[in-house]
Amino acid sequence: MLITIPDVFSPDEVRALRAALDGADWEDGRQTAGVQSAQTKRNHQLPATCDVGRDLGQSILERLSQTPLFLSAALPLRILPPMFNRYETGEAFGVHVDNAIRSNPFNGEPLRTDLSMTLFLSEPDEYDGGELIVEDHYGPQTVKLPAGHMVLYPSTSLHEVRPVTRGARVSSFFWLQSMVRSDMQRSILFDLDQTIQTLADGLGADNDHVRRLTGIYHNMIRQWTEV
Ligand code: NI
Repeated sequence: MLITIPDVFSPDEVRALRAALDGADWEDGRQTAGVQSAQTKRNHQLPATCDVGRDLGQSILERLSQTPLFLSAALPLRILPPMFNRYETGEAFGVHVDNAIRSNPFNGEPLRTDLSMTLFLSEPDEYDGGELIVEDHYGPQTVKLPAGHMVLYPSTSLHEVRPVTRGARVSSFFWLQSMVRSDMQRSILFDLDQTIQTLADGLGADNDHVRRLTGIYHNMIRQWTEV
């Protein structure tokens, strides 16, 4: 399931992030591609452990830790430090699947990639092309979000970034290991949690049925999580 998290950062906050990124030293994205994806990957990235990337990545993780919709959708166990990429005119990343295991560049800790994330840092009218296309159960989904919005999709999905034909597409991309490995189970929990929130808004969190449903949600979490 694809999930969009709107307004992770405001337009002013995106402008500050972009000012730091636009002055940074970018490198050829193929340096961090696997053997298979190096052939289809044409973009630029910030080095994984550079100061600018580390500081901005930290601010993204802090923001996500305070974003209830993200926490409900992802149920994160561990999140890799966010990375940053830039596609200029003629650059693209052909159809590929992300590596199942990645290691944290700062401490070497391994992580299973359950969810892939893209936080858009360019407005859609700044560039043509550059759509993220994700294959899911319902066929290919095209994603091109306003700056400051984010998409989560299962890391099992085939996906690509279409060629940019004008301007530049800047984004942050990263992965997480969820407490719930199954995309289906995670989707059910997300749906239930969002429904409980809606009911609680209408009926009050102290409504007996809302309380019972909340108990059911937590009991399902106990059954389905690995921590
Ligand atoms: Ni990818």
